[in-house]
Amino acid sequence: MNLNIKFTKENIKSDIEIVFINQELLKKLPKNIAGILSLQNFNAKDGEAIFLQNDKILYYGAILDDIDSIREAGAKAIRIAKKYNIKSLKINGFEDSNFNYALLIGILLGDYEFVDYKNNLTKTTLKDIFIIAKKDYKDELNKAMIVASSVNLARNIVNTPPQDCTPIALADIAKKIAKDSSLDCKIGDIKFLQKEKMELILSVARASTEEPRFIEIAYKPKKSKKRIVLVGKGLTYDSGGLSLKPADFMTTMKADKGGGCAVLGVMQAIARLKPNVEVVGIIGATENMIGGNAYKPDDILKSREGIMIEVKNTDAEGRLVLADCLSYAQDLKPDFIIDLATLTGACVVGLGEYTSGIMGYNKKLNKEFEKVASKSGELMAILPFNRHLEKLIDSKNADISNVSSTRYGGAITAGIFLGKFIRKEYKDKWIHLDIAGPAFVEKEWDINSFGASGAGVRSVVEFVLKVANGA
Ligand code: BES
Ligand code: ZN
Ligand code: ZN
Repeated sequence: MNLNIKFTKENIKSDIEIVFINQELLKKLPKNIAGILSLQNFNAKDGEAIFLQNDKILYYGAILDDIDSIREAGAKAIRIAKKYNIKSLKINGFEDSNFNYALLIGILLGDYEFVDYKNNLTKTTLKDIFIIAKKDYKDELNKAMIVASSVNLARNIVNTPPQDCTPIALADIAKKIAKDSSLDCKIGDIKFLQKEKMELILSVARASTEEPRFIEIAYKPKKSKKRIVLVGKGLTYDSGGLSLKPADFMTTMKADKGGGCAVLGVMQAIARLKPNVEVVGIIGATENMIGGNAYKPDDILKSREGIMIEVKNTDAEGRLVLADCLSYAQDLKPDFIIDLATLTGACVVGLGEYTSGIMGYNKKLNKEFEKVASKSGELMAILPFNRHLEKLIDSKNADISNVSSTRYGGAITAGIFLGKFIRKEYKDKWIHLDIAGPAFVEKEWDINSFGASGAGVRSVVEFVLKVANGA
């Protein structure tokens, strides 16, 4: 992210100008320009763009009173502008601070590209962006820079291929983030996992030649009102294990660490935003591989909570890793526990690839989170638990099975499985986010380019800030 963004009152000189426009404004344009636009069939529809070379103006159709449209317009217009050989551009800001924030987030996240592994890069020359507005919107700019760089950090880690982002490498990244942002960081190795009786994580990890790691990273302000514990699924690769994934389903499974990486992104943002609330991030980092010593369908495992689990499918490994992490998380006596995981394909089938699932026993908290997520610009929807679905993970040989007896409602039965590891006193304090849909983008949408999206970061940051503000 090398862009310089500045709000300015004056109508500064720049190489090109971006004008967001709707049908009404299109009608008000001077006749000569309207004529040229009409000649080219430009109707200022949402997402429609046209560049007038003589005037050096990029007209971009948007719904000007819709904040989601403006965020997306910021992202898409920047992507178009980056293709030109220009150093600077100006764009009209808004009078509303939320709209300006959305525009900034759009620009900063739309600008992201993952190029670490490319030899032949197309150079972009764009450096300066001037947003014309009446105020300098310092707070919005500051927050947008922090949040966007944390989303982009999560994206970078998720995009890193699995041979380089191993569990140990992920732990090293966490240590570096902690060091750079003055956070506490503890890394647990196999011995630690054994001491903590985390047999579920150890079993999932066993067939991999890469050792698992337990990552704990904490932000502890002096005057903290509440403690929030975040738990992230950090599968640096999910081959499915002995219940092996078909080849087509295995690609993109480097993104199975999306929840864990979102936790790292949030931790970095929180370290910089400095709210008065303690935040601890926990990540269970491992691979799920095959081999002679792999854990098997039919194994019965003892979780850290003591609950016995019959493994029916080794590809349902995320819930096993999370179960041990959630157990540890509750020992920290949190006021809220939020887990983030690319947990089920069923969630993607149910909600589509743009929306994350929110689950948990506390209906009010679910609704609050849904609202915060929507305000942050992320799509999330509540998936309701019910007592009939609860029965589907019963096991004949152990306390519960790691998969449901039917394939229907798979996102919810996975959520219910996690819920079994939440003690009574924490049931109302817990939220599970299934980010399997939006975590990895196979076709560019909204402010997301191809690859990791950093799903979850914006919503959870907003939630932490809301708790800090006492709401
Ligand atoms: N990591 C996958 C879930 C996933 C699927 C994430 C697609 C992103 C995109 C998870 O570990 C998994 O494989 N879940 C199984 C569960 C099943 C065996 C009950 C699934 O969803 O098929
Ligand atoms: Zn799996
Ligand atoms: Zn997985």
